[in-house]
Amino acid sequence: MKAVFMTAYGDANCLEIREIKKPVIDDNEILVKVIASSVNPVDWKVRRGDVKFITGSKLPRQLGADYSGVVENTGKHVKNFNRGDEVFGMINAFNGNTYSEFIKVRENQIAIKPDNLNFIEAATMPLVGLTIYQLFFQITNLPDEAKVLINGCSGGLGHIAVQIAKNLNFHVTGVCSAKNASYAKSIGVDCIIDYNKENILAKKNTYDLFFDAVANTSFKEAKHTLKSNGEYVSSIPSFQNLVLAPIFNLILRKKNKKLWVKPDAENLRSLSTLIENKIVKPTIEKVYPIEDIINAHRHSETGTVVGKIALTIREVN
Ligand SMILES: NC(=O)c1ccc[n+]([C@@H]2O[C@H](COP(=O)([O-])OP(=O)(O)OC[C@H]3O[C@@H](n4cnc5c(N)ncnc54)[C@H](OP(=O)(O)O)[C@@H]3O)[C@@H](O)[C@H]2O)c1
Repeated sequence: MKAVFMTAYGDANCLEIREIKKPVIDDNEILVKVIASSVNPVDWKVRRGDVKFITGSKLPRQLGADYSGVVENTGKHVKNFNRGDEVFGMINAFNGNTYSEFIKVRENQIAIKPDNLNFIEAATMPLVGLTIYQLFFQITNLPDEAKVLINGCSGGLGHIAVQIAKNLNFHVTGVCSAKNASYAKSIGVDCIIDYNKENILAKKNTYDLFFDAVANTSFKEAKHTLKSNGEYVSSIPSFQNLVLAPIFNLILRKKNKKLWVKPDAENLRSLSTLIENKIVKPTIEKVYPIEDIINAHRHSETGTVVGKIALTIREVN
């Protein structure tokens, strides 16, 4: 089967397609024939070696966290899935391998695909959708009609955060560049800040949640923008966030909370319900075939993607 490998740490040229054997499943695993995947920034951070402190430095290695596809086979202890089921899901991105024709997954990494999305659309949703689901339903504790700021509202995380926040009846201030302002309005942003013209940290005592999807601010810089019980969440947890914040959060009224997405089948099913109820809808800026993985990574690395970049692994037949 075909799979993308990185043969060195560095730029996208280190990616190549290799032929390898199909994975063999154990009694608790599910073999998925992958139809589509998507590119997330974490994929090229692993490729560049930015997160070797988490991934280690083994080579060659595979990449990819998101997938959609069809169940090919199941281990004898797998209860909830059968051959032919149309599925989607996410595996740990730091040990990813979904840019390949077959993968094996466990039951906590898989759910039935939302029936109103095709395979390409479905493959763009798990990592960003689970992150934002966990942000709003597990990590934050916000009042009714909360005022939220979403920095990076047009990107992969941001466009899902806007849609879920609006469905929760929150007032959303979205930060993006002028070229994305009409898109941001179209997905529900109430008030737009163009980061090239305005300082996103200018307001005082304004937000119940400051969600920094871009991760170019810190809690220290942003805390004056929060109301007295406001919460700050960055998409890239800092040392302060990981180590000190849990202690300070016990004492301080303004909280600095940690976001670290985890694969979770129950959350994936809830995300699927939000999609089927048309609360969440993916935006796909471009679809690349797996053979064009180098350009797909280069595109994602521009940091200007609106919504998501999808990857087709094989034709649907
Ligand atoms: N902690 C976790 O569990 C977790 C989970 C998922 C992702 N992440 C991380 O979250 C980050 C964002 O991921 P993503 O998928 O949303 O990335 P993305 O899709 O690449 O984000 C691109 C978007 O960011 C916007 N942007 C770029 N610079 C900006 C700025 N200075 N101010 C406001 N918006 C700006 C762009 O809009 P313009 O073109 O208008 O600038 C573009 O629409 C990545 O670092 C990723 O690794 C963390």
